Amino acid sequence: MKAIVVTDEAAGTAGMTLVERPEPAPAINDVVVQVHASGFVPTEMEWPSTWTDRLGRDRTPSIPGHELAGVVSALGYGATGLSVGQRVFGLTDWTRDGTLAEYVAVEARNLAPLPGDVDFTVGASLPISGLTAWQGLFEHGRLRAGQSVLVHGAAGAVGSMVTQLAREFGAYVIGTGRAADRQRALDFGAHEFVDLGNEALEDVGGVDLVFDVIGGDIGKRSAGLIRAGGTLVSVVGPPEVRPADALTIDFVVTSDRGQLGEIVQRVRDGRLRTNIGNVAGLDDAVAALNPTERITGKTIISARS
Ligand SMILES: NC(=O)c1ccc[n+]([C@@H]2O[C@H](COP(=O)([O-])OP(=O)(O)OC[C@H]3O[C@@H](n4cnc5c(N)ncnc54)[C@H](OP(=O)(O)O)[C@@H]3O)[C@@H](O)[C@H]2O)c1
Repeated sequence: MKAIVVTDEAAGTAGMTLVERPEPAPAINDVVVQVHASGFVPTEMEWPSTWTDRLGRDRTPSIPGHELAGVVSALGYGATGLSVGQRVFGLTDWTRDGTLAEYVAVEARNLAPLPGDVDFTVGASLPISGLTAWQGLFEHGRLRAGQSVLVHGAAGAVGSMVTQLAREFGAYVIGTGRAADRQRALDFGAHEFVDLGNEALEDVGGVDLVFDVIGGDIGKRSAGLIRAGGTLVSVVGPPEVRPADALTIDFVVTSDRGQLGEIVQRVRDGRLRTNIGNVAGLDDAVAALNPTERITGKTIISARS
């Protein structure tokens, strides 16, 4: 099968190459999925799990990409809940070969049915950003209606999902990002927008929840904005500065079939809009994942035309 592999950590996404690889065999509880579309998170080349397995052993050449939409082509020993020929979408294990390929082996429990009226490209754009937003707001952030949420990177992949879900849930949403992102963030449902390059973040005043996808100096300054009893949710590692009287959570997204169902239902009924910036074929994936100009939204690699 065709697949994108990486072997050189220092080369980053520029080191991606399109090669022929053997089709994966399903392990216990796995299914094999014929990948129709795959997502990719730009920071994957910095994740240790891209380079080593769970025992810390080198696993290169590794296939990046950990979210997919496709069709089940084989069932492994003991796999239940899915059938051959079924449309599925979901999140694959960080420490195994991923989805920038024609086929991938993945534990059945990490997938959910993809309704027939949702395109594969849309399905592949939802798992990481949708589940991260859902879990950060509702599981870890324990958002309640009427609370205020500061959403960093509100026009980006995760931030646009956070903005829409928080707004639907009855929160007051303040989005942040680059100057060029203002209208997109407002279109996704932010009530206000802070241009981090030109406006003072501190003018936001107090908020109940900060959802941080940026970290660094922005993360440090955000800690001081959280009201007593509020929550700082980070998806970019443990915050360097913790708020004094608020809960601090950093987490890595996990797959959840029920939550994937909630997310895709919202896409079908129009409550949630996905955020795709570019779609390219597997043959053009290396160029598409090394863009020469800024792309807002996810790049989706379509394995089948
Ligand atoms: N822990 C987890 O489970 C988890 C899950 C998903 C994602 N993540 C992490 O979350 C981060 C965001 O992922 P994503 O897919 O949403 O990326 P993305 O689509 O690139 O969104 C990030 C947004 O924030 C903006 N931004 C970044 N730095 C900024 C700054 N200093 N000032 C103003 N705007 C800034 C970006 O603009 P530019 O494009 O111009 O920089 C972009 O619009 C990544 O680090 C990713 O690894 C973690």
